[in-house]
Formats: sequence, structure tokens, C-alpha cells
Amino acid sequence: MIKQGKSYSKDGHIAFIVGNEFKTVEGIPTIVEEQAKKFIASDDKTDYIKLGEQFIFFVKENDDLEKMRVAGYETRTKLSKEAKELFISGKGVSALALAEGLALSNYQFLKYFKDADKKRYQLENITLLDAFEAKDISRINNTTKAVYWSRDMVNEPLSYLTAPQLAKEIKAFESVENLTVKVLDKKKIEELKMGGLLAVNLGSIDEPTFTIVEYKPKNPKNKKPIVLVGKGVVYDTGGMSLKPTAGSMDSMKSDMGGAACMAGAIYAAAMNKLDLHLIALIPATDNRPGGNAYVPGDVITMYDGTTVEVLNTDAEGRMILADALAYSNELDPELVIDAATLTGAAVAAIGQKASCVMGNANQETIDALVKSGNNVHERLAQMPFWDDYAEEVKSAIADLKNLGGKYAGSITAGKFLEHFVKSPYIHLDIAGPAYLDSVDNYKGKGGTGVGVRLLNNFFENY
Ligand code: BES
Ligand code: ZN
Ligand code: ZN
Repeated sequence: MIKQGKSYSKDGHIAFIVGNEFKTVEGIPTIVEEQAKKFIASDDKTDYIKLGEQFIFFVKENDDLEKMRVAGYETRTKLSKEAKELFISGKGVSALALAEGLALSNYQFLKYFKDADKKRYQLENITLLDAFEAKDISRINNTTKAVYWSRDMVNEPLSYLTAPQLAKEIKAFESVENLTVKVLDKKKIEELKMGGLLAVNLGSIDEPTFTIVEYKPKNPKNKKPIVLVGKGVVYDTGGMSLKPTAGSMDSMKSDMGGAACMAGAIYAAAMNKLDLHLIALIPATDNRPGGNAYVPGDVITMYDGTTVEVLNTDAEGRMILADALAYSNELDPELVIDAATLTGAAVAAIGQKASCVMGNANQETIDALVKSGNNVHERLAQMPFWDDYAEEVKSAIADLKNLGGKYAGSITAGKFLEHFVKSPYIHLDIAGPAYLDSVDNYKGKGGTGVGVRLLNNFFENY
């Protein structure tokens, strides 16, 4: 947790943010000043010395906040596991960004280690010595908590995180003020005739869930809600169009990254008491080739009555999202945003350093989201969204087919989804950055929680 400290306690670990001059704090030995002067004269961005067990870090002040967050990560990698507190001496947004980077880097997923306690970082407090607004500190703490939650969900394997379990984890958000969670079970989903979600679930023994999270503060700025939709495929084997194992299926516990993103985003917004009315819809199931699994060639009637010819059961995300997007129409939203680990094509196009964004909402709204992406370094690249692409998901025997042509797979998937939404719509394909096989600084390895910080920045500025 980041907190406001009143004074530095002697022998404590400390990070100094250094501009052109070094300002020491009471209790720091004078030899540190000499070291600081050398650091200022050098080209190094970060450095540290050890006085016995004590760590003294130096970080060059930088207007580029991402540099400060990454410096926070570097601090975490050097600091000992046993350190319980780290003081930060430095002012303003750069100190907050350093603290944020450090807090995000302190994440570990140790649940399945027998000796987890031995591996665990002991850091409890990141203590800011300069004065800050309490609100600025608590926003980072709340958002980081939601990012941790989101990463945990993505990192949880199917052996724990089935669709009903995911719903249960989201249900726990109800302890936050003005936030309610309703979980629709299979029976209810059948009554509602959510054909897409039910079709994907046919091969599974676990029941599907459809979770509705509403955050409604007393005086929201928006009259009509913003609806968030997240793809909750708790595992994607590909179904009958089975994926190859190596390199393709093995990371597919992360296919509920969109659900983790959107549930995490509304959780953070509620903890941060943002004055926006938000509703998140989370359709969830695994996708397997079991029992009565849907097959290529099947024609499915979706929630809104649209018929879809299934040509690839591995294009399941759009099947379950379509029902949720159609459901959003009943909520009369002013904006609908979805997030999904939807296509390999999005990864092929721009890799893991950014997500694809596209949609029919006005360009100012999309620009605002892109700007938030730059602010928090969860960047977005906008794809074209011309209607020509929609031709590729028209079927010869049904209203739509769930497979586009050879090219532009992320866009044809987006066009498929657009068919179901009546409100201004933005689609985020987070297939690249949602899950990482190797460490990328404070984002870590495994589930990144991408989108949570992005959306909270967007909501704060909305
Ligand atoms: N979950 C995958 C997409 C994915 C790929 C996410 C790589 C993360 C990393 C999705 O359900 C899928 O299988 N998409 C297919 C669609 C195709 C059959 C039209 C794909 O992208 O190959
Ligand atoms: Zn798939
Ligand atoms: Zn998938």
C-alpha cells in the first residue's frame, strides 16, 4: 500500500527522486550526498547503494511518467524480499508514478506454491515523505487492487476458475458501496435464449454464467449508463476446431482477460467513487469439444434473433459477446465498450505492446480513450472500421457467419460484434497484452490486468 508518511525512520530503505540538486532527508548519512552528486553527473537513470542492509535508491526525475513507473519496477527487482517499507522522497506526479510502478511490480501469484511464504515479498508500505492529496494516493491504491484482482483471475487455471467460480469472485465486489452484482445461471440464460453463450457451452460440463455488475452512485454525471462487456471464456480449447497444444492452447486460461478487465474496471471505479453510472456484462463459459459440442456448420439463433452459421468453433468469443452486446440494448446506454482476447490477428497486427481499438462511437470518444491509453501506457492502435469489412461475415444460409476472410481478422470480428449493438460502440481487442509469457517490467509475467488502468483514466476524464 502507498501511504503518506510523516517522517523518515532511520535506517529505512529509501528512494530519492533527484532533479538537478539533491535534497537529503533527516537521518540519512552524509556519504549518501556524495553518491548522489556522482549520480546527478552521470547518465544513469537509476542507481543504488547499500549501507549494510539498507538500500538507498536514486531515480532521475522524469516528466515521462512511464519512465518513473519502470524505475519503480527496477527498484522492486533490487530491493530485498524481506524489506517491509520503502520511503520515497520526491514531489508531485513523478513520485506517484514511481510509487505506482513499484506497487504494480510487487504483485506475485504464489497460490499454488507449497513454499509460497518463503517466496513472498514482504513489502507492506510504500511511504511518501512529501505531501500529497489523500485522494491521489487512494486512487492508485484502489486501481492497483483492481489490477491485482484482474491478474489473479487471468492467472487462475480452469481447474479453479470455472464460469460459476468467476461469477462468485465478481459477486464479492458487492462489499463496495453502490455496487450490485446479479448472476444469471444456466436456467435463466436458457429462458432468455442466449443462443451464442449456450452454443459455446454445449461441450462443457460446467454451467455458463452471465454476470451483471452495476455501479450506480448517487449523482452520476451520465443520465444513460456506460455499458462494459468482457469476454469470459475461462478456457478456450478451440472446441471441435481444436487448437494445437504448444504455443496456442497452453495460455488459453487467459481467454477471460476481457472479463477480468471489465469487472476489474468497474470494481476500481466503484472503489474510487467515480461519479459515473456503469454496468458491466460478463458472459462466461469454457469452450470445449465435449459431449454435445457445437460443430462447424451449425446454425445458431442468438439472443436478438440473428442467426449465425458457425464455421469455426474457435471463433467462440464473438458468439458469447454477441449475446451480451444485444442484451446491452435493453439498458439504453450512451456508450458500449467491450474488451476481449478476441483474435490472433490483433496480435499479428500490433503485437503485445498495445491493443486494437475500433468502433462506431464518435471519434472524440475514441480519441479520449486512446489518450488515456497513452497516459497510463496501456496503448491503443485504432483500426479502420469501414462497412466493407462487414461483407465478409455475411453467410449464404444465415444472417451472419462467425468467420471472416483470410485477412483483417480483428476487424471482421469487430464488424461481427457491431451487428448486435444499437448504441455508440467501441471494441477493444486485448489478445496481445492481456497475457505475457515473459516479464515486461511492472506488467509482470502472466496476466497483466490490462485495461483496468486504461478505463479508469478514461472514466476520470469522462
Ligand atoms: N481466444 C482466441 C484468440 C487469441 C489468440 C487470444 C491468441 C489470445 C492469443 C480466439 O477465441 C480465437 O481462437 N480466435 C481465432 C478466430 C478465428 C478462428 C476466426 C483466431 O484468432 O485464430
Ligand atoms: Zn477461440
Ligand atoms: Zn477465445
